[in-house]
Amino acid sequence: MAALLSYSSLPQLHRAACACLMAVVLSACSSDHSSSPSTVPAAAVERGAQIYATSCIACHQADGHGVAKVYPSLAASAVVTGDAGALARWVIKGQRPAGMPAGRFAAAMPQYGWLKDDDAAALLTHLRSGFGNQAAPVTRSDIAQALVPR
Ligand code: HEC
Repeated sequence: MAALLSYSSLPQLHRAACACLMAVVLSACSSDHSSSPSTVPAAAVERGAQIYATSCIACHQADGHGVAKVYPSLAASAVVTGDAGALARWVIKGQRPAGMPAGRFAAAMPQYGWLKDDDAAALLTHLRSGFGNQAAPVTRSDIAQALVPR
């Protein structure tokens, strides 16, 4: 293949390569400006915030801090920021994560088995990136995988 290239075509190739590189650099720059701090998709966070406001806020409160001795705080919660699968199984199935002892709170939390996978992903992404938390987003396939019976 290289033997077919005449010397006269090389400067053109070089220019094309430069343009290509510039495009990569520019697109990297522009995506940096448009996205939030990590790689959390804005639409998911917004959808998650909506679900939080309708289903969770009554107990865990607008600031996620809960109510002392009654409802736990979701800010700096090891359950929220830890293993995404364990978090999903708690919220969706009421399956208690290891390291979250029973009996700390008198009230019980409802289960949210009716959440669709992508809504659950959006909700958990909101919890993990809101209230000062900084854990990785949760995808729909993370949820599907977490709920596979084992
Ligand atoms: C009726 C009140 C109530 C509602 C509504 C509620 N929770 Fe809870 N939540 C609780 C209680 C009580 C606990 C503690 C349960 C326990 O330890 O047995 C809890 C615990 C949690 C925990 C574990 C926190 C930790 O660090 O221990 C998470 C995460 C959580 N809830 C998320 C949610 C999400 C997400 C929603 C909405 C989809 C929600 N909760 C709705 C009462 C509620």
